Amino acid sequence: MPHTLRHVLPHTARTRDDGVLEVGGVAVTDLATEHGTPAFVFCEQTFRERARAYREAYADGIVCFAGKAFLCVEMAKMVAEEGLGIDVASGGELYTALAAGFPVERIVFHGNNKTDAELEMGLEAGIGRFVCDSIDELERLDALARARNVVAPVVVRVTPGVEAHTHEFIQTGQDDSKFGCSIEGGVALEAVKRALDLTALQVIGFHSHIGSNITGVEAFLRTVEIHAEFAASVKDATGFEATELNLGGGLGIAYTRGDIPAEVARFASEMREKVDSEFTSRGVTVPRLAVEPGRWLIANAMLTLYTVGVVKEIPGIRTYVSVDGGMSDNIRPALYGARYEALLANKALEHGDRVVTIAGAHCEQGDLLIRDVALPESVRRGDLLAVCATGAYGFSMASNYNRFRRPPVIAVKDGASRVIVRRETYDDLIGRDVR
Ligand code: LLP
Repeated sequence: MPHTLRHVLPHTARTRDDGVLEVGGVAVTDLATEHGTPAFVFCEQTFRERARAYREAYADGIVCFAGKAFLCVEMAKMVAEEGLGIDVASGGELYTALAAGFPVERIVFHGNNKTDAELEMGLEAGIGRFVCDSIDELERLDALARARNVVAPVVVRVTPGVEAHTHEFIQTGQDDSKFGCSIEGGVALEAVKRALDLTALQVIGFHSHIGSNITGVEAFLRTVEIHAEFAASVKDATGFEATELNLGGGLGIAYTRGDIPAEVARFASEMREKVDSEFTSRGVTVPRLAVEPGRWLIANAMLTLYTVGVVKEIPGIRTYVSVDGGMSDNIRPALYGARYEALLANKALEHGDRVVTIAGAHCEQGDLLIRDVALPESVRRGDLLAVCATGAYGFSMASNYNRFRRPPVIAVKDGASRVIVRRETYDDLIGRDVR
């Protein structure tokens, strides 16, 4: 494999002498033969190593995996085994975690518009935290908890008014956001006062998530300052001091050869120091830090295998290399203009000197997975294309557009493979249709 791609690929990726890419000790060509394409290949070791790196970096804090990045029952089990908590953002994600037997006290429930039924699910299960996004939610949760005679553990999500440097669709810390209670407008303080009055709620702390795929620490440090200021104003107004500060997820990764991934250990120590100094200097108790990484833990642990089909050269314009998936298994290029790297997994030793565009098989001109990527001159029908770093928000945002069947997820580890999500069948596709 080209040396420059090492940091976007799973930790175990290597090229065999015959040019075949191996992940987790398994030749991906064998996976394609056995399971077909498109398929997600998931390197368990990469995820586990990254989970441990995060846990070590936040040794005295709480690390929850953001399930929205990728979730299935086996994934929830691995997350639990690694000692992480899990952030769920819907009844469906919660249901998946519960089906995996996930330790309930480590489940954190998010969402800006949770339904009563979802809040009930959380209460019924006895989950560890409800991240409440509005006064409306606080009041409904209180009423539901009171009816059950339980006390719900609550973290109040606030909007710090920080604009992180990332795509606007995944920027969430600015004042004009559908998430959280704005500090600037005074809603956050009002929400905390209300929460403290509601007797079936136990307020534990505050939360913010400023955005996603952020590679610089500055916006996080600014957020800590704002939290400390807010905590001081809450203390002044109510006497209440939080024991937990959840700073959400958002660490960026390397998608392309030029990207520099965020270093978790450095982020963690800078954030920790900032929390210590900002809270101490204001005379507010230093809270325990919690974080919710999604992308950083899982993106580089996976790649997507496709089979090359039609290769269409438009003289003087471009060459389209079409593959057997596309925007239904990876919407990110079309939705965010996201960039990826790719290589021919059956010819990984061949030099990439032909610049082509990878096209999906959907009925849309916008269904292009990668514009202008260098592949070997010999690229042709039947080759196996691996698109790197597709583990976060690929499978989880997959659709059945054009009635495509969603791909399987195949976990590889120590030379063995196992399917953790099977490919959809045509019968699955019509399974809910009334006939
Ligand atoms: N915590 C909260 C409250 C979140 O909303 C998110 C992501 C995370 C944690 C995890 O963020 P991460 O560490 O993965 O950046 N579909 C988009 C990303 C949307 C992220 C939504 N929230 C994408 O494909 O880039």
